[in-house]
Amino acid sequence: MAGTARVAPHNSPVNSTANPTARPSVPGLVGVALLGTKFMGRAHSNAWGAAGKFFDLPMPVSQEVVAGRDIAQTHAFAQRWGWRQATGDWRDAIEDPLVTLVDVVTPNNVHREQSIAALEAGRHVACEKPLAGTLAHAREMAAAARKAKKCRTFVWFNYRRCPAVSLAHQLVAEGRLGRLFHVRATYLQDWGGPSTPLLWRFQANKAGSGAHGDLNAHIIDMARFVTGLEFQEIVGAIEETFVKEREVIEPAAAAPVLSPSGGKRRPGKLGKSTVDDAVLFLARFKGGAVGSFEASRLATGNKNRNTIEVNGELGSVSFDFERMNELRWWDNTLPQRLRGWSTINCTEAVHPYAGSYWPSAHLIGYEHGFTSMAADIVKVLGGESPVVPLPDFEDALQTQAVLEAALMAARKRQPIRVRDVLKG
Ligand SMILES: NC(=O)c1ccc[n+]([C@@H]2O[C@H](COP(=O)([O-])OP(=O)(O)OC[C@H]3O[C@@H](n4cnc5c(N)ncnc54)[C@H](O)[C@@H]3O)[C@@H](O)[C@H]2O)c1
Repeated sequence: MAGTARVAPHNSPVNSTANPTARPSVPGLVGVALLGTKFMGRAHSNAWGAAGKFFDLPMPVSQEVVAGRDIAQTHAFAQRWGWRQATGDWRDAIEDPLVTLVDVVTPNNVHREQSIAALEAGRHVACEKPLAGTLAHAREMAAAARKAKKCRTFVWFNYRRCPAVSLAHQLVAEGRLGRLFHVRATYLQDWGGPSTPLLWRFQANKAGSGAHGDLNAHIIDMARFVTGLEFQEIVGAIEETFVKEREVIEPAAAAPVLSPSGGKRRPGKLGKSTVDDAVLFLARFKGGAVGSFEASRLATGNKNRNTIEVNGELGSVSFDFERMNELRWWDNTLPQRLRGWSTINCTEAVHPYAGSYWPSAHLIGYEHGFTSMAADIVKVLGGESPVVPLPDFEDALQTQAVLEAALMAARKRQPIRVRDVLKG
């Protein structure tokens, strides 16, 4: 095994000098390798650890190995989050014979290389969103997934697994909204003010785009998931970078900064931000519905305001992640004197996922979406069906094409058909 920098956590059954090949692989076990150790590294570690506690899974999960760039930090991370081993070399983790699934939680520009290497090594891959920083990378990843016929791919569009969003998907699929007219989606945050330094998220060569790939990716996926409709055309778009320069920081200091950061720019060496801070666009869906989408990191006062509303002939649904346990519902088939917005507390056992957690109205939070997704991944690998559909690389390529079409519409100032973008 090349470049081994393997360190076993002291509370691990594997000691620090163990040769991983000495331990036989266990059939019927999902052996996970996690690549990345920060924000999503924590969310995913928690999910892999919790999935089998809350859900009846067809196979147990083993948190085999975590890969990070700083071996001391990765070692500490492994101990804290229950990984059997830590390595400073992600290739080493992929090649571990006990690993059957590779979980990619690194910046967007790294997704392609890591995912393709994992598929070529015969591993299933669960990759964070957006599928890639660019459509070209996403295409290569989808092609590699098609080629790796024995491997399954998954993309962490975690908001699909909020019980309220899953319920909205079910209500539309049951025809309860009838013909769909409008999709109105926003994903608004406010941590990207002038005092936020030049993190990888502001560098196009690492992130691909800014708020667009980070946030619009989620609401494009949610719109496709909830409505079952595909985008036909981006009719017009605005791409804006409000903060053109940001303080350059050492890579080691590039911790996630997702807290308010208004105010003045910090002193120090400045570098150019090469991504958008906000992208807004209008879309037409196949079948005639229309939609508006807005993503921003400078929407002061909005912390993680991921919203979607769908209006149909027979009813409407409305979701706001800041009240994530609730789905607002308008039933247009009721007698007129009874019509009004009702708020469904989606915590009953009859609601998707909710019954796996706590009793009625004992609310769930952000991390549960990841736990529910990890559980669904294991179900699929064990031959069972997920509670609601899971996006794979092919599915996420559609979302990536919509992202690309919106940027093209903004830059060319003209409508762009998604079909033409996908054809290349
Ligand atoms: N699903 C969601 O809601 C959600 C939320 C946040 C981030 N994300 C996505 O998750 C991914 C990671 O984001 P994050 O917030 O965890 O970022 P982060 O900056 O917190 O962590 C990135 C990790 O990748 C490692 N890394 C960076 N460059 C690397 C390289 N070249 N090789 C190997 N490792 C490298 C870093 O050391 C770190 O451990 C991104 O694709 C992002 O879009 C998804």
